[in-house]
Amino acid sequence: MKASGSSGKEANLLFKQAYEYMVTRMDRGEWNAHDKLPSIRRLAQELQVHRLTVFRAYQLLKQNEKAYVKEKSGYYVSPSKTEEQVPTGHTENNRSFPTSSALKNSLSEIQHIPVTYQFSQALIDPNLLPNLFLSEHVKKVFDIYPKLMGTYSSAQGDVELREYLCRYMVRHHNLQLAASDLLITTGGQQAIDLISRIYIRPMDPILVERPTYSAALDIFRQQGARFIPVEITPDGYDLANLERLMEKHKPRLFYMNPTFHNPTGYTVPAAQRKQLVELAERYRCLLIEDDAIHEMYLDQPPPPPILTYDTEGWVVYLRSFSKYIAPGLRICAVMGGAHVIKSLVTAKSLADNGTPLVNQKMFLHYFESPRMQRHLEKLRIALQIRKEIVEQELASTGWRWVSPQGGFNLWLQLPEHIPVDQLLEECLRQSVSFIPGEICDPLKEMRSWIRLSYSFVNEEQLRDGVRRLIDIAGGYTT
Ligand SMILES: Cc1ncc(COP(=O)(O)O)c(C=O)c1O
Repeated sequence: MKASGSSGKEANLLFKQAYEYMVTRMDRGEWNAHDKLPSIRRLAQELQVHRLTVFRAYQLLKQNEKAYVKEKSGYYVSPSKTEEQVPTGHTENNRSFPTSSALKNSLSEIQHIPVTYQFSQALIDPNLLPNLFLSEHVKKVFDIYPKLMGTYSSAQGDVELREYLCRYMVRHHNLQLAASDLLITTGGQQAIDLISRIYIRPMDPILVERPTYSAALDIFRQQGARFIPVEITPDGYDLANLERLMEKHKPRLFYMNPTFHNPTGYTVPAAQRKQLVELAERYRCLLIEDDAIHEMYLDQPPPPPILTYDTEGWVVYLRSFSKYIAPGLRICAVMGGAHVIKSLVTAKSLADNGTPLVNQKMFLHYFESPRMQRHLEKLRIALQIRKEIVEQELASTGWRWVSPQGGFNLWLQLPEHIPVDQLLEECLRQSVSFIPGEICDPLKEMRSWIRLSYSFVNEEQLRDGVRRLIDIAGGYTT
């Protein structure tokens, strides 16, 4: 695509993305200290952008001391502060090791800080899961399959589990699938990673919701994707704008989380779902439908998955069961057209040759037990109560949100005068965590928003922690 025909905002976005792409290559160790960077003309050709875009990105690299210029020669990679201190013997064949910033997962960095009031984990409180039942169950599963520990799974996943999930999709969504249309991955995160390895090349335009699940953005960034943001609102997407973006950028894929969306909790209405498939077919753009918490509705079940409208194989459906069944087992089912599943199975076999069979069999018997199905009802009630507690506590703050009909999060807009980055720092000091909106935004803006998860701590901690958060935020005056 050519920046010359783009609006100023898009050109700005493009050059920042070209910059990020170059930083990623440095972080991965592909471009090392004092290496000469490709000429502007060559990189512009490679990335299919205007030369001015590359020039601006190089200028920014220089400004941020990531590159330096040699008169009449070109741009070179600056040594990083740490590299300068590493003795030369610590590099192999003159190549340095990738730095940790290349492997960024902003979400998990925040989630792993130990705090009492844990509002950054969008996960069911482990105390709400039927833990005793699970321990009895483990023995039963080993009785059924005594050789379980000594057996590999196939790369595509246990066929018994895949067949069960096919029956599940018929029962719940009236959707006919064959076991060969399914792949089992180690969590939804692995599915996103495999998809991005197959479908994304550096600077490829991809559609992502704004805001969206931040770990997915981190994965796509690693592949060097160029984000084309699609705003999501309580009413879904602006389909006319989406069509314009598909026509203009010809993206390979649209990563979407249309049901109890993370972080906003919004659900794309049924009326838009069929139209989305029509757009995908028309513009040959894969819809990656990430549906990690479909069953965690509070009142009414959500509309059917977008996958149920797909007849031509333009939807790849990810149904992780980590969030409310068994995070420790990390089971996700990927469903889609034969050509997509075939490539994903190859990628999966290269990645880990199959999700552990023990996990798959445990999950299968646990999930299909009537006890677990009854348990889902109880979880919904517990979530409803927790959501109401948070909303009661926040009622007097003037902060804004749309009450979600399912899921684990409130997406809160704070008054402009509250600096969310400073608020987070202070909150962490006082043992409260949340997710800053900025990391969920492909444009890294949304600085007045936060995601507050109400599912992970108990009711008392929820009340106390939200009060503490409000108290800390009250310290910032207009
Ligand atoms: C939308 C979405 N997709 C995928 C995942 C990752 O799922 P898993 O834990 O199965 O890797 C999450 C986890 O937070 C999520 O919110």
